[in-house]
Amino acid sequence: MKRLVILISGRGSNMEAIVKACKAEGWPAEVAAVISNRPDAAGLAFAAAHGIATAVVDHKAHGSREAFDAELARAIDGFAPDLVVLAGFMRILTPGFTARYARRMLNIHPSLLPAFTGLHTHERALEMGCKVAGVTVHFVTAELDHGAIVMQAVVPVLPGDDAKALAARVLTAEHRIYPQSVRWFAEGALVWDGEVVRHRDGAAQQLMLS
Ligand code: GAR
Repeated sequence: MKRLVILISGRGSNMEAIVKACKAEGWPAEVAAVISNRPDAAGLAFAAAHGIATAVVDHKAHGSREAFDAELARAIDGFAPDLVVLAGFMRILTPGFTARYARRMLNIHPSLLPAFTGLHTHERALEMGCKVAGVTVHFVTAELDHGAIVMQAVVPVLPGDDAKALAARVLTAEHRIYPQSVRWFAEGALVWDGEVVRHRDGAAQQLMLS
């Protein structure tokens, strides 16, 4: 059984999706802890209610990114995870931190990377007149929103969409591909081909929703 530590900053709906998936019969992973950088993150209550250990490492209590990341790493390592899962964790990480968890830390980003790294992805996709949008699960590297892509989901942009409507459609896809990606990692089904990640048996690494 692989151990997961999930990092959140807020609502935690992706964390919820992974927690629920892990409860299913035969799942190869369990959530050892949920850690937030914000004491008021709504997702902490869900995790605690499901008997999962929680911790807060408040970025505001640390004078530098390095100090915060060092404390965060201490908290994470206390739970001895096989995989660190960033689920709406809204902090930029130092290169030392990303190197520590190289090839064992995943992130979900609400765009079809490499398009629209950073914030306000849905607003920017709408401004560009994009006809599709989506979400990417990728391994974390030092460069923000880069790193090998594990899975992507594509959703249509529909007439009349505003950022909220598009975000909701994308979020539905997030809740499908993040648990799937975590499962593949836990099963050892993800193989590295240079800097690219493929599924061992050629399973589809994309989900197309209409
Ligand atoms: C999700 O849409 C996730 O893709 C996004 O924040 C939201 C968190 O929702 N992440 C990023 O923008 C990271 N750059 P959640 O807390 O309900 O999972």
